[in-house]
Amino acid sequence: MGTAPDSTQNPLQARYGTHIKKINEALDAEIKIYSESEFAGPLRYAITGGKRIRPLILVLATDTVGTITEQTYTAACAVEFLHTESVIHDDIIDNEAQRRTMDPFHIKYGYNTAILTGDFVLGMILNMASKLDNPRVTRDLATTAMLMSEGEVLEGTIGAVADITFDDYIKVIRYKTATAFEAAARIGTVIAGGTDAQVSAMTDFGRSIGIAYQIRDDLIDWNNEDKLFNALIKQGSDPRAAFDRMEAMLTEYADAARNALDKMPEHPSRDGLEHLAEFTAIRA
Ligand code: IPE
Ligand code: MG
Repeated sequence: MGTAPDSTQNPLQARYGTHIKKINEALDAEIKIYSESEFAGPLRYAITGGKRIRPLILVLATDTVGTITEQTYTAACAVEFLHTESVIHDDIIDNEAQRRTMDPFHIKYGYNTAILTGDFVLGMILNMASKLDNPRVTRDLATTAMLMSEGEVLEGTIGAVADITFDDYIKVIRYKTATAFEAAARIGTVIAGGTDAQVSAMTDFGRSIGIAYQIRDDLIDWNNEDKLFNALIKQGSDPRAAFDRMEAMLTEYADAARNALDKMPEHPSRDGLEHLAEFTAIRA
């Protein structure tokens, strides 16, 4: 059910259309390598309609400190596919009925294909890592994949106990969501030959914008019974206080992301990253 979202529905399209077009071409080219595979069609479906914020961060980070190359897009694809794979599994865990105005992957293709596509995508990412031929980047992708899973499982275990704290919540979203943003920002800087100080600043940027991004997403989706924030609202005596705290944290982390950029060289793409932090802080 539902029709495929068109690219004009992507709020990042107007400002970053040129980058997004190249990212989409690179994603299509990666899938085309496996056009004989059973997974090619499902994978095309799985990447349809995403905003591409993670690969965009990677490309803008590279552009801020160095030169965009074919390697940049390979790395950008690796990060987007990691996200794709996590979304396929997350929609099962969260019982989602809709994703990007379409059926979630597991409803369209079934549970078995959903599980196996995740495995297949991890293989694709290994292949992209071999093309990048950079142990530091490979390690970063590996760690990110592991921490994202860690965050997902932690969300389940923490969600099952009675007294969840905001610190628990932040830990979960730092792992399950922010690590991918962090990896995007860091890998983009590393492959562009950024200095240690720049890599560190971009790591801070990625973590902060990632946490802000998930807080915003949870504020929009607060009604979903399967989400941790929903449990946080319910256990408190005053739901409004939970929302206020979330909104304050959203501002705090988006500001931290913007401040991290002060350590980066002046560049239109740095302004782009700053704008993404502002975009993330917009009240839901
Ligand atoms: C959704 O991420 C899942 C979260 C971690 C909040 P996005 O909002 O980046 O999803 P798409 O790819 O743009 O649909
Ligand atoms: Mg989830």
